[in-house]
Amino acid sequence: MCGISAIASHKLVSHKLLMTLQNLEYRGYDSCGMALFNDNKITLRKNIGTVDEVNSLERFEGMEGTLGIAHTRWATHGGVTKENSHPHFSNNEEFVIVHNGIISNYQQIQSNLKDKGYRFYSETDTEVFSNLLEEEYSKTKDVETAFCDAIEKLEGSFAIAMITIHQPDTIFAVKKDSPLVIGINDGVNYVSSDINAFISETRDTIILDDYDYVLIKNDDYEIKNLKTRQKVSKQIVQVQWDRQTAQMGGFSHYMLKEIFDQPMTVRNALNIPAAQIESIAEKFITRKQSFCVGVGTTYYVAMVGTYLFSEYADLYVPSISADEYPSLIPCSHDDHVLFFSQSGETYDTRMAIRAAKSKGAATSAVVNVVGSSISQEVDDCIFQGSGPEICVVSTKAAVSQIIILWQIALEVGVLRNKLSRKAADSFKDKFNEFSETIERVLNEESGNIRNLAKETSHIANWLFMGKGIYYPIALESALKMKEVTYLHAEGLPAGFLKHGTLAMVDENMYSLFFLPFKDDSDLYKSTLMSIEEVKARNGKVIGFCSEEDHEISKLLDHALYIPRGNPELTPLIQLIIAQLFSYYSALNLGLNIDKPRNLAKSVTVG
Ligand code: F6R
Repeated sequence: MCGISAIASHKLVSHKLLMTLQNLEYRGYDSCGMALFNDNKITLRKNIGTVDEVNSLERFEGMEGTLGIAHTRWATHGGVTKENSHPHFSNNEEFVIVHNGIISNYQQIQSNLKDKGYRFYSETDTEVFSNLLEEEYSKTKDVETAFCDAIEKLEGSFAIAMITIHQPDTIFAVKKDSPLVIGINDGVNYVSSDINAFISETRDTIILDDYDYVLIKNDDYEIKNLKTRQKVSKQIVQVQWDRQTAQMGGFSHYMLKEIFDQPMTVRNALNIPAAQIESIAEKFITRKQSFCVGVGTTYYVAMVGTYLFSEYADLYVPSISADEYPSLIPCSHDDHVLFFSQSGETYDTRMAIRAAKSKGAATSAVVNVVGSSISQEVDDCIFQGSGPEICVVSTKAAVSQIIILWQIALEVGVLRNKLSRKAADSFKDKFNEFSETIERVLNEESGNIRNLAKETSHIANWLFMGKGIYYPIALESALKMKEVTYLHAEGLPAGFLKHGTLAMVDENMYSLFFLPFKDDSDLYKSTLMSIEEVKARNGKVIGFCSEEDHEISKLLDHALYIPRGNPELTPLIQLIIAQLFSYYSALNLGLNIDKPRNLAKSVTVG
């Protein structure tokens, strides 16, 4: 996730802007930059590297001006280059902007602007907005109208801050689906992606809502609604966090923050341009056989893919763990392998790519880190735009990868005539609703999950079970539990239980069952049989169900109620609740949640 900062002051601001960049660096650290208005023009400096590295090259502190914007980048569109770093000028250098989020219709806007003669110097989605502003301003000669008219043309998620020579005492900023806050102080006002940027200067904060836009001066601010263009009043809140808590967005650990980031990262995954999804989907059609490959959590993501391709495209796509891939190398030059990696640096996955390439197979990947080795080694790569995942265990990156995989599977279904375009498109609404459901579930269920974790934190042995798509969800949830609690949690297919593991079940064994709503009758009924098998041996059972399902809730020792919403997306809701359950279990045990023992974020060794 990129970090944006803007300051309007009655004094020179470059020192303060630099400080805010340093405070935001945890959000993105591949490049940064700053633009200040001074002497009737805007000066811009930017480069690749950490904030300190870029500052020693570009000497931010030497820049003059009392109004400025700054940015620390985590690349989503385009590589890590000076041209791609922010801020971005419009062609005539009269407007300059910083942006966080993904503008999903940027290609279309860019081609319209190119037809009008605009030139583009970066590969970013952001640069289209600065030129769009220039274009809109040429029509009305009014900055506020141009800003709002340009924003209304954008699709996707964004938080944007802008300055212009045409209104040199004002910062313009806006937000939709990406965070933006204001900091109020005496003669100095701030706009930023998060409170952490300015917490050492002021605790007086205004949290903006979607479609709010603001006009900020050093001694005044106005908040308006983009749709009505009328003023809205917002309360100033006094933030009591310290800096470290602020970095974690007020959460006590990065794991919890990243679990709560998921509504936003899901939206970013949904804003991946359709052309990128189609490009990978086509390989599933043109190539004889496709495979999904990842390792650890990303192997379980790949396994979810096997079920999705079967469901929506009637296609068998085997999933293979990257560490085992070189022993099998099941592909040939007619085939295609889709890899998953958050870091883009995992040794096992890189070796699997090498093995696939040695057979001449086409390769593609879904990766979070732009410029990473894996993204460069494959033929085709989608960057998921989840922002840095700082906790060692993966949460938001995995769920985003599943959302992207889902979109690919739907597209493959359409291309194979197994699914109508209409049916595939109807998922767009379901997904949009899904990010709201996650938000609601996280807010409403956290207390229950915390209580359950308190009651069960003495349990040393767990079985996590599910059938169908719930099976990889159970595996991933068990992995989360093991990683952060060091407890024994075994994931297995529910139907497999009676073939051996049932011997271990007694009153000390706890089982967590992942299962569909009752309507999904076959899967529900067969999972219910496994629950009965555990109950018959006095094992304790926790299970997910809807509130109306009295039959199953009577059977369970503890029911985890989930909203009915879209049944197809229920497995992901259960995964997110299981992430929370692991988190709170580890919290009760007083463990080092963000850095579990023996684990590293990026496993670059074999
Ligand atoms: C588990 C986890 C690991 C990684 C695995 C692959 O929470 O994070 O299992 O998923 O090491 O890493 P990436 O996705 O970076 O290739």
